[in-house]
Amino acid sequence: MPLLGVNIDHVATLRQARRGVDPDPIWAAVEAQLGGADIITVHLREDRRHINDADVRRLRSVVQVPLNLEMAAVAEIRTIATSVQPAMITLVPEKRTEVTTEGGLDVCSKHKALRTFIAPLRKRGILISAFIDADTSQVRAAADAGFDICELHTGPYSTANIGRRESEIDRLRLAGEEVVNQGMQLNAGHGLNYTNVGPVAALPHMTELHIGHSIISRSVFIGLREAVRLMRELIQL
Ligand code: PXP
Repeated sequence: MPLLGVNIDHVATLRQARRGVDPDPIWAAVEAQLGGADIITVHLREDRRHINDADVRRLRSVVQVPLNLEMAAVAEIRTIATSVQPAMITLVPEKRTEVTTEGGLDVCSKHKALRTFIAPLRKRGILISAFIDADTSQVRAAADAGFDICELHTGPYSTANIGRRESEIDRLRLAGEEVVNQGMQLNAGHGLNYTNVGPVAALPHMTELHIGHSIISRSVFIGLREAVRLMRELIQL
């Protein structure tokens, strides 16, 4: 049964609409934990469009489940990550103009640079995950670079029309098998919601699902604690 990582960036996005203090992502993290979140995730972007440095530090001291910090492979954010010491870091590609993370990290073309980048973080005992497309060559490059975990990008599955869903699941299954064969942990996320999460949760060896937008959206109507509880129930069926 996969664990559920809840991404609370969107709570900070709402706060930044007024640049004030409400709603506080720390309150969101507490509610998510009370709903059964196994992991809390935030993305500290270079442009600080939602989560900021102080949020990450406050979360690190308040959150009682593992904290997963999403970040681009840039030195400035690595310095912050080193001092905060989250349990886990997920490296993602980042573009200033994107609305959300658009594609997976291209590990194939930069696995040597990534190996050097993650080495000091791994030395500190932080687990490092690569957010990649469901592609076996990216998986092998991630193993080569020394990643502990691969998070497979489920965006293409979540936007596929009914006719293509099965082949997207097959792609995820194939890449997932390679992740496990290479001795890494298998995670997945992006675009998962209350109606499409089932087949991804049922993939063999799936360890963690990382979900944000659908849970925060549902929480507007039923509250975050209940929204998390419902999602957890679905992925553990
Ligand atoms: N995993 C990664 C690496 C992401 O960048 C995001 C989006 O921040 C998610 C999971 C969650 O995606 P969504 O908000 O679509 O559930």
